[in-house]
Amino acid sequence: MLQLGVLASGRGSNFQAIIDSIRTGYLKAAVAVLVTDNPDAYAIQRARENGIPWLVMRPGDHPSGDEYYEAMAEELKARGVELVILAGFMRVVKPPLLRAYPMRIMNIHPALLPSFPGLHGQRQAVEYGVKVSGCTVHFVDEGVDTGPVIIQAAVPVYHDDTEESLSARILSYEHRIFPYAIRLYAEGRLEVSGRRVRILGQGRADEAIINPPVEG
Ligand code: GRF
Repeated sequence: MLQLGVLASGRGSNFQAIIDSIRTGYLKAAVAVLVTDNPDAYAIQRARENGIPWLVMRPGDHPSGDEYYEAMAEELKARGVELVILAGFMRVVKPPLLRAYPMRIMNIHPALLPSFPGLHGQRQAVEYGVKVSGCTVHFVDEGVDTGPVIIQAAVPVYHDDTEESLSARILSYEHRIFPYAIRLYAEGRLEVSGRRVRILGQGRADEAIINPPVEG
């Protein structure tokens, strides 16, 4: 059974979606540990309620960023973690963890990468005025939201959207594509070559989102 290590800094709704997918049998995996950098993260509550071991690791308790991620890699390895899931982990992962888990760290980002990387992807999309945005699950490399893309979901952006309304629309798709991406990994169906991720045995999407819709 695939052993996951989940890293989260906040409310942990994606963590919950993963927990729920495991519970229903949709995702054949187990969460070996939740690691958070924030002692007040609501994600801890979710771990408690679901009998998942959790650990607070704060960068300030380590002499440097590299040593922080070194220590984290050791913890994850010691618990048998095979795939690391960044579920709202609000930090840039540094080389010691990347080296310990090459192409074995997945992140979810609330925009259609490479558009709007970094913080506040939803706000950036509203302010830019795009008509379509969405979310992306990708493998993590040394850049910020730059690793190979696994799956994306696109949603319309409306003229009266706020950061909050767009975030809510995107979030419901995050909760669908993140467990699915992990499931594809668990099933050995992700083949990475360079920047491109091939998904074995996968059907093709055939519908475009056109926003606003073309009328007449
Ligand atoms: C999500 O919007 C995710 O895309 C981003 O951080 C947020 C985490 O939300 N990386 P949650 O903690 O999973 O509810």
